[in-house]
Amino acid sequence: IWTKPNDVLVFYVNGTKVTEPHPEPETSLIVYLRTKLRLTGTKLGCSEGGCGACTVMVSKWDRSQSRIVHFSVNSCLAPVVSMHDCAVTTVEGIGSTKTKLHAVQERLWKFHGSQCGFCTPGIVMSMYALLRNNSSPKMPNIETCLQGNLCRCTGYRPILGAFKTFTDEQNGGCPMLRKRCCNISLTPSERSTKPTIVRIATKLTTRHRSRYFPPELLITSRNHAATPLKFVGERVTWYRPTTLDQLTDLKEKYPDAQLVVGNTEIGIETGVKGRCHPLIVTPAAVEEISFVKNDQSGIEIGAACILSNLVQQLNKIVEEKEEHLTQPLSAILEMLHWFGGDQIRNVAVIGGNIMTASPISDLNPILMACCATATFMLHSRGTRKVTMNQSFFPGYRKTCAMKGEVLLSVRIPFMRKGEYMKAYMQSKRREDDIAIVNAALRVKFYHGSRKVEEFSAAFGGMAATSVMAKHLMENIIGRLWKDELIDDVAAWMREDFKLEQNAPGGMAEYREALALSFFFKFYIHVKDCLCKEGATKDEIASEEQCTKVPLGGNHPVSLSTQTWEEIPENQPKDNSVGRPLPHSSGQLHVTGEAKYLDDITPYADELYMCLVTSTRCHAYVRDVNLADAMTSPGYVTYVDHCDIPGSNECGVMKGDLVFANGKVTCVGQVIGAVIADTCAHAQRAAQLVKVTHEDIFPRILTIEDAIKHESFYKTLHINAGDAATALDASEYVIEGEMRIAGQEHFYLETQACLVVPQLESGQMEIYCSSQSPTSLQDDAASVLGIESNKVIVRVKRMGGGFGGKGTRYIVVSNPAVVAAKKCGRPIRCMLTRQEDMLISGQRHSFYAKYKVGFTKEGKLTSLVNNIYSNAGNSLDVSIPVMERALYHSGGCYRIPNIAIAGHVCKTNIPSNTAFRGFGAPQAMLIAEDWISGIAAKLGISAEKVREINMYKEGDSTYYGQVLESFNLPRCWQECYQKSNFNERKEKIEEYNSKNRWRKRGISCIPTKYGISFTEFFLNQAGALVQVYKDGSVLLTHGGTEMGQGLHTKMIQVASTCLGIPASRIHISSTSTETVPNTSPTAGSVGSDLNGMAIKEACEKIVGRIKPLRKNFPKLSWDDLIIKAYLERISLSATGFYKTPDIYCNWDQDSGECFGRPFDYFTYGAAVSEVEIDCLTGDHVVLQTDIVMDVGGSLNPAVDIGQIEGAFMQGYGMMMLEEPLINERGELLTRGPGAYKIPGFGDCPRRFNVHEIVAEFAVGEPPLFLSSSVFFAVKNAVASAWKHSGLFGSFRMDSPASCERIRMWCGDQFTKQV
Ligand SMILES: Cc1cc2nc3c(=O)[nH]c(=O)nc-3n(C[C@H](O)[C@H](O)[C@H](O)COP(=O)(O)OP(=O)(O)OC[C@H]3O[C@@H](n4cnc5c(N)ncnc54)[C@H](O)[C@@H]3O)c2cc1C
Ligand code: FES
Ligand code: FES
Repeated sequence: IWTKPNDVLVFYVNGTKVTEPHPEPETSLIVYLRTKLRLTGTKLGCSEGGCGACTVMVSKWDRSQSRIVHFSVNSCLAPVVSMHDCAVTTVEGIGSTKTKLHAVQERLWKFHGSQCGFCTPGIVMSMYALLRNNSSPKMPNIETCLQGNLCRCTGYRPILGAFKTFTDEQNGGCPMLRKRCCNISLTPSERSTKPTIVRIATKLTTRHRSRYFPPELLITSRNHAATPLKFVGERVTWYRPTTLDQLTDLKEKYPDAQLVVGNTEIGIETGVKGRCHPLIVTPAAVEEISFVKNDQSGIEIGAACILSNLVQQLNKIVEEKEEHLTQPLSAILEMLHWFGGDQIRNVAVIGGNIMTASPISDLNPILMACCATATFMLHSRGTRKVTMNQSFFPGYRKTCAMKGEVLLSVRIPFMRKGEYMKAYMQSKRREDDIAIVNAALRVKFYHGSRKVEEFSAAFGGMAATSVMAKHLMENIIGRLWKDELIDDVAAWMREDFKLEQNAPGGMAEYREALALSFFFKFYIHVKDCLCKEGATKDEIASEEQCTKVPLGGNHPVSLSTQTWEEIPENQPKDNSVGRPLPHSSGQLHVTGEAKYLDDITPYADELYMCLVTSTRCHAYVRDVNLADAMTSPGYVTYVDHCDIPGSNECGVMKGDLVFANGKVTCVGQVIGAVIADTCAHAQRAAQLVKVTHEDIFPRILTIEDAIKHESFYKTLHINAGDAATALDASEYVIEGEMRIAGQEHFYLETQACLVVPQLESGQMEIYCSSQSPTSLQDDAASVLGIESNKVIVRVKRMGGGFGGKGTRYIVVSNPAVVAAKKCGRPIRCMLTRQEDMLISGQRHSFYAKYKVGFTKEGKLTSLVNNIYSNAGNSLDVSIPVMERALYHSGGCYRIPNIAIAGHVCKTNIPSNTAFRGFGAPQAMLIAEDWISGIAAKLGISAEKVREINMYKEGDSTYYGQVLESFNLPRCWQECYQKSNFNERKEKIEEYNSKNRWRKRGISCIPTKYGISFTEFFLNQAGALVQVYKDGSVLLTHGGTEMGQGLHTKMIQVASTCLGIPASRIHISSTSTETVPNTSPTAGSVGSDLNGMAIKEACEKIVGRIKPLRKNFPKLSWDDLIIKAYLERISLSATGFYKTPDIYCNWDQDSGECFGRPFDYFTYGAAVSEVEIDCLTGDHVVLQTDIVMDVGGSLNPAVDIGQIEGAFMQGYGMMMLEEPLINERGELLTRGPGAYKIPGFGDCPRRFNVHEIVAEFAVGEPPLFLSSSVFFAVKNAVASAWKHSGLFGSFRMDSPASCERIRMWCGDQFTKQV
């Protein structure tokens, strides 16, 4: 049958039939949707199944169930050819601004569930697919369906709030307090659609069905069995057999063919790592291996059984059978809840997991521990059965399968009486993360006794394969299940697992401690079972009950409240300031209609650029060989430093190069770029460019390396009083050190640009995703050697920025400009997630060494602090980052004597850059570290030390700024009260005294954040307001929209100043053509600066039409404007603003600093309560209360979004995220698989945000409040210390990862590794 010609691919998208005669098996569904069908609503965030931005719904006929099934899928991993006979629904297919929003879209929009909007279509589709299958979901269903989606902006709370309206749980109507519901302020027509409980029909009406599952497809799917298919592409042939006979025959004929079902393993290899598998055979349509069967003795699972189907089947069996029989199935179910996200579980199969033989597979240890049997088949020989023990996995990613064999099924025996089994797992992030270590443990006792008859223990993450603990398994036989066993087990496990310090995956001690801790948890569980079943009278201690929580904890779903000051009742209706208007692009976000850079329709003659970057951190570039690349399909040309018409030097401090010239100073430095006809061809050709490097030593990678080699760009000092003398005179002095890791921006839209040369005028038009259009314009002009008036930069919107697109856009824009000049054709480039993370820099990592003096009451007397930041291979904005760090080094506290030195380290890693908070969060975290050190030393609470030392109204900072309208004490007090701090602290102490292995902690942290650019000239903004004859207004200002709601707020300002509804005002894009010389949109000052410039422009126009208004008071706005036009009154005005009265005299030699560097400060406070698992290091944020001073908020809903989003970003920085580089300077944590930003499940279980009115800017200040989680964890660890008989203070570096929490807890198990 396979001699037939290439088949035609037929599938349906949003109800329309797609017929593709030449399908390319290497093309993913998302690429096909976006490039061929131009459905750009579906977004590409990572290409590795880790962000969910690409989620679509797939529907197909399920023959075994005789019904249509709907499921969410990562379209970045799904090959388009796998869609044959399926119906795909994308975000465009469910609702539109032109027709009607779907309820999911509408609620998300109205509940402020999108900011940059890049993640939004994926989130909409995950929820939509859930509702298709379950019309009355509960909150846990919703949280589960969102496990595979990430959002970097919102902090998740508003999304959960929006989707809660689909449940019928109490208070399900609105997550906000009744009076504060944002929908109350909508217009009457909008209010009529305010959230109520809604049902989405799961039974499709004929009209709906024709859209989601066209009749033609239904008829063919029902009446015709699947047919074998063969698709032949440029490099890959794809076979879809439909019988076991065809499948095994193909595999024997082509033993190297990959058997792909979910493509969740192979898709990463081909998509991200660039490998090509020329032959793919998919068993997806082979029903003989897609079953789940059970009999008296066990269950048999077909290798092609999809994991989400497996969950359904196992649940049924577990419900039906006696509990003890199905313990392995329960273990699998518990594990599968945390396995990937829904999108992965909906396509991945058990056979793929077994046969990938990953050392961190979550299922293989369970299968090994319960003595499962695998059945293989070779076409010419038949089947054979193999027990899944150690010899099943002979080596790294190897199984005992013979050449040409297909895995048919796996059989799991039921457990017997007196037999117990459990599985455990710990990962960096609870949701959608692979395990650091996992384990499955099984024991059988001699009848009625506690003497071990059989024992198996299989671990993942402890070796190159899933591994059985041989010594443990041998020695434990015959032993009694008594406490004495534990020390012996530790000794046997030490024999089993001797991880080298530099073992792949690192964390050697932690992994050993985890393995032991898992055994301990199992020990307690079994001891309890034995006692309950009467085999022993030995009960478990009540304080050990806490080890028995289910995998991932048993915490409630997330709940939240938000409050803000209401606008006065007499505020005119057209005055929208202070109203919680939804994001001005919100409807476009939720429908996928919002256009980001890569959504711009391609030009006919457009080319694609892929960068060639260095693989060495410090080396000479000896040769660049293009021979292979040039013969690759679609190759057009290569550009490098020789092609630059102007200057190769670029960047804010001119410390960067467009292209390396003979030498590279970090891994990921741009050497050149390949230009080809398509993205796929450019990527393929770039991989074929061979660069020969010659290493240069030393390699300076870390701050420690920089200190050793004295490699600094600059050291800044700030001094006040006489710190050294005061330190000597202090009653107490403590010394400390703290290390704070960097942080990846992880904006969902990676760096991108499109450069269009205008040949007629020599002008370059650049569409880009940049926070600094003017700086980009300056750079492009300098690189091209032309004047700035020939370079026009346009920014429509960004899919997130967070500082990462403030300066580092240069890695893409400058090479693209050079390529466009050379080719004379439009050039497009959007970095892959992995490239972006490798190349574009991060938040600076910091290290501090401090001494702090204080009185016996805890009053600060002196601080001497040496702070180091890792700036990377170019200066970029590292000096201003360090300046801000120095300004914030004292936290919120008055310190009479201070001497701080800030050392900016020059290293061989990609240049680090701005990130929300700009150095302040690191500096304030260090300050809170010494505060907690003082508290530990004096045996008083850290909150007390904070209160004693907190600034007061009229105090002066150590750089001379007087604190006026000092609103921090109010925030602090309100936060204390609203959170019931004292009462909860008592309860926590009680909880901790009753629980040995789970501890809680609580902490209250204040913040004080200076608002203004410390580069004073940047504190300026311009605006252009144009009123057209019909009364509509086109507004342009210097700020860029990256999700923070700036355009929404600016429209509110203009609407208020002009006295017209916000709906009459439109912002098209930010452009250097309309407002020149703009400052970057950064530093939380975007609204302040641009809002004032807009106000000035609007006031000019209002002033000009004032006489007319006086003479014709009854005229409507539209009539007034046309009258003004007829009277020849100019209806266009520019506005300009510069922040007044900011200055600073900073003598860098003496360190004396005096001035008013900040226009004002934003204040806030947060209380967080956490619970940690002392045995694994896992943690959950039980509750966070934030009180934030946001000023007379322009838009409270947008501001609350900023507070929650910033909080979660800071939470990521301090609790989860840690970029790792190896000794060669290569970034190991590239992509969402390796680098974990917070997910939905990390949202505090109770999240309360209160805005109070006094003053001001809110983008960056709340980020630091997440340190309340960090210090709550520190308090919980301190409680674990106490329980272990340890006292005093301990050093806690950031992030407080599960590894650190576990190892800090220090107990008998950590001592035994
Ligand atoms: C975002 C993400 C999250 C993930 N999370 C987890 C997790 O939490 N835990 C975990 O353990 N894994 C995880 N994985 C890994 C992966 O999803 C699983 O291993 C999955 O079960 C693989 O199934 P698949 O159908 O997608 O495999 P595919 O990629 O289709 O195939 C994988 C391999 O198995 C072979 N194979 C498949 N079927 C057969 C057969 N019948 N006979 C012989 N060989 C066969 C193929 O040749 C191929 O080499 C994750 C992956 C991603 C992308
Ligand atoms: S783009 Fe598919 S999951 Fe990220
Ligand atoms: S709104 Fe979710 S990533 Fe920006």
